[in-house]
Amino acid sequence: MIAIACDHSALELKKEIEDLLTARGLEFKDFGTYTTDSCHYPVFGARAARAVASGECDRGIVICGTGIGISLAANKVKGIRCALCSDPYSAKMTRAHNDANMLALGARVIGVELAKMIVEAWLDTPFEGGRHKTRVDMLTAIENGEPVE
Ligand code: RB5
Repeated sequence: MIAIACDHSALELKKEIEDLLTARGLEFKDFGTYTTDSCHYPVFGARAARAVASGECDRGIVICGTGIGISLAANKVKGIRCALCSDPYSAKMTRAHNDANMLALGARVIGVELAKMIVEAWLDTPFEGGRHKTRVDMLTAIENGEPVE
């Protein structure tokens, strides 16, 4: 189950990504927003991120104008590694090396077709583990206020 959410600036792109998920046979849960009325991206970033952190959803995709605000919101939730990506290479590598459990997109930054390529790269790439797990564990240690050196 994929959590998906956006603010008012990204409604159209969210629909495109939902169609892509459906075409790939993937289930998603849409945490809003559902209209183009101006809203606050932290609300929707938090909803999707909390669903991922709790295990209700396996991974999440969040979208705002730049992707920055909603990724910041998601990353405030313990256990979330949300990567803002504007290219497929970064999307692939953030799965392979960072085990990013959430992806953020900027609807005012990238086009629909590029966004789809980014989502596909992110969905299709497994975490490599090994030395990268050591580093991801260090991110968790930072989150927990534990030493990393
Ligand atoms: C909304 O105008 C815009 O600020 C928001 O979508 C996002 O880009 C914030 O980071």
